[in-house]
Amino acid sequence: MRTCRIAPSILSADFARLGEEVRAVTEAGADWIHFDVMDNHYVPNLTVGPQVLKAIRPWTTAPIDVHLMVEPVDALVPAFIKAGADIITFHCEASRHIDRTLQLIRDGGAKAGLVFNPATPLSYLDYVLDRVDVVLLMSVNPGFGGQSFISSTLEKAARVKEMLDRYEAESGRRIALEIDGGIKPENIAAAAAAGVDTFVAGSAVFGAGHIDGYRDVIARMRAA
Ligand code: DX5
Ligand code: ZN
Repeated sequence: MRTCRIAPSILSADFARLGEEVRAVTEAGADWIHFDVMDNHYVPNLTVGPQVLKAIRPWTTAPIDVHLMVEPVDALVPAFIKAGADIITFHCEASRHIDRTLQLIRDGGAKAGLVFNPATPLSYLDYVLDRVDVVLLMSVNPGFGGQSFISSTLEKAARVKEMLDRYEAESGRRIALEIDGGIKPENIAAAAAAGVDTFVAGSAVFGAGHIDGYRDVIARMRAA
């Protein structure tokens, strides 16, 4: 069977009840918890750091997927690993030494991922695939939840999927292909058809209001 992971983004959760929200989406069927970190420097918005990650860690058994929208990256990596990150992804443009940052994350025992904005070229992957566990394609410009899906990401996803399939045939190792931004039950099938296996959804999941709504949206995404 094909891999299909749904990763609700806490950006659209009720921050006053974050632990309960994380537990609710886990019970509603989330595969990963997507944790958006913004610094008002790399992106024009500000969210949360390692202390909040540490606080929500006991509320879920699902892997926590930390999406760093920060610059610089390296100095923050150890704190997020210590706080319980399972996966850490960062943006190509935000690290001066991508190879080093990937290695830093993996040396700390987490999985490492590289994030591509809608206009970021895929050539950043050329010499680092063997150090990458996740490729995350942004289908919106990073910084805010609730934006509309940028459809050129589908063609980009299909190109990455080809690269990852070729790499798997050579190495026997599967790299995850994740998409983030504007994903909903209505467009998730197109992303899956392009080869995406991991789907971040913030407003679509948390906009459903409560645990029954979360369960219903996650089930509809998986079915689609
Ligand atoms: C955007 C964040 C996304 C965002 C997704 O910068 O990285 O994870 O929360 O939210 P939706 O699903 O509402 O586009
Ligand atoms: Zn994100």
